[in-house]
Amino acid sequence: MGIDLSSHEPWDLVAKGYSEITMAVFQGYTDAALAMVNLDSQSRILDLACGPGTLALTAAKDVDQVKAVDFSREMIGILNHTLESEGIKNIETWCGDGQALPFEDNSFDAAFSMFGLMFFPDRMKGYREIYRTLKPGGVVVISSWAPLSDSPLQQAVFGALREMMPSMPKPQQNVESLENPEFFREEMTKAGFKDVRIEPVSCGTEITSIDSFWEDTVKGAAPLVMVKNSMTEEQWREKSKIALDYLQKTIGDSKNLSAQAWLGYGVKG
Ligand SMILES: C[S@@+](CC[C@H](N)C(=O)[O-])C[C@H]1O[C@@H](n2cnc3c(N)ncnc32)[C@H](O)[C@@H]1O
Repeated sequence: MGIDLSSHEPWDLVAKGYSEITMAVFQGYTDAALAMVNLDSQSRILDLACGPGTLALTAAKDVDQVKAVDFSREMIGILNHTLESEGIKNIETWCGDGQALPFEDNSFDAAFSMFGLMFFPDRMKGYREIYRTLKPGGVVVISSWAPLSDSPLQQAVFGALREMMPSMPKPQQNVESLENPEFFREEMTKAGFKDVRIEPVSCGTEITSIDSFWEDTVKGAAPLVMVKNSMTEEQWREKSKIALDYLQKTIGDSKNLSAQAWLGYGVKG
């Protein structure tokens, strides 16, 4: 069994848990991406595959306008709710496919796609849309995960998942994917960006107990929500026990687990 995260359904299913749990965990990557770009109160930016607004909400405090795009109605619904409840006026949302944007050419000073473009079925289409809608000299930052071997957090989660579902294929290192920084750099260069550089960023998650780590992961991780939804409650309880035993054995003493990502930076020439 593989898990396909290129359609909106898994993201609709996980949206609430993602906004309650994962968003905070991902804040460090967003902060690192924003630190790579000079933004000011005149800047107009794009947050492509924005989820519940992890980057959009952070950036909106410092820029003129944010366009936040996601194809998950639930994610956009949560962001719209935040905008309304917090009276935020400079983020405009659009629900739709990031591979075909409704924005004019040369609209943005900067564009970001944090753990989003990596899921597009045709990444080149995503790059093209970013390139088209950036102003000349505009900057893009795209994040994607480093190999599993660099990320104890993801090793733990995927290890638990495979323990529960032995038929799930073992994640293989793939040099022809964004987890390879050289491939990532070449891909962004091929898409037309200049001054491309790929930087590592590692963020940690505090582990207070294995039970709460597992509970949060199940709430906030799309692959686990998908697996949980495919089972009866009884089956899930049994599988969860297997996962908890595995986590206890493998990370029982850990206080913090990190996950490494790459930030791909480029400029529209
Ligand atoms: C891991 S979440 C990242 C959310 C947010 N950028 C963050 O850093 O927390 C991935 C997001 O990409 C969105 N997504 C994936 N493919 C998409 C596509 N083709 N068009 C628009 N959004 C997409 C999903 O709906 C989901 O909200």
